[in-house]
Amino acid sequence: MRPLIAGNWKMNLLHADAVALASGLSERRSAEGDPGCDILVCPPYISIPPVASAVSGEAVSLGAQDCHAGDFGAHTGDVNCAMLKDAGCDYVIVGHSERRADHGESDEFVCAKAAAVIAAGMTAIVCIGEKLDEREAEKTLERVAAQIAGSVPEGATADNLVIAYEPVWAIGTGLTPTVDQIAEVHAEIRARLASCAGNADGVRILYGGSMNPGNAAEILAVDNVNGGLVGGASLKLDDFWSVCSAAS
Ligand code: PGA
Repeated sequence: MRPLIAGNWKMNLLHADAVALASGLSERRSAEGDPGCDILVCPPYISIPPVASAVSGEAVSLGAQDCHAGDFGAHTGDVNCAMLKDAGCDYVIVGHSERRADHGESDEFVCAKAAAVIAAGMTAIVCIGEKLDEREAEKTLERVAAQIAGSVPEGATADNLVIAYEPVWAIGTGLTPTVDQIAEVHAEIRARLASCAGNADGVRILYGGSMNPGNAAEILAVDNVNGGLVGGASLKLDDFWSVCSAAS
């Protein structure tokens, strides 16, 4: 399966920096050729249009970090999937743990967003992952199984769904699970997908949480790891390109 390396820029970069990073990535991709993975960048909403121009072409895809599940209407401050598709997005991240924590998003809410992404003809990147206390209480597999059951919408298939396994305690901390722990969780996710996604064996399961040039090759070589969701390391061109190159 061809890996996907997705950069989640979170709430970072002003307009000029976002465009410079996106253009740099596009140029690096042209100059050095195919690194052996699909590359995606997910800027903040406000930078999507300029980044769309900077990465236009097939080599670097564009995604959003969130969406509203509804149609056009009275939802002040929100952005729906039709708008994101219109702006050039092919992917939308939903259910990131920072949104689950900052905005109280439930599995049900995340599921509705994922359904809206799919209905709009894009791919939903559904984020799941345990907190530290759940890991310590040996509830990790139970937690991710529940999140999959609750957050993956009907009609999800390998063509419109990506899962990102991100242990909450590994995000932005420099900590990562062992490769054995990652393998165990990804195998569980693969097994659980069989009952809720079409062509479940083809669904890409990304690892996310402190992935960087130093650990990417080892993590990306783990069974059932089909790419990465990269935060901090996606903000520096050289680091992000190194992670992409490690996917081959
Ligand atoms: P990080 O973030 O790579 O900075 O840990 C990953 C994510 O939250 O998607």
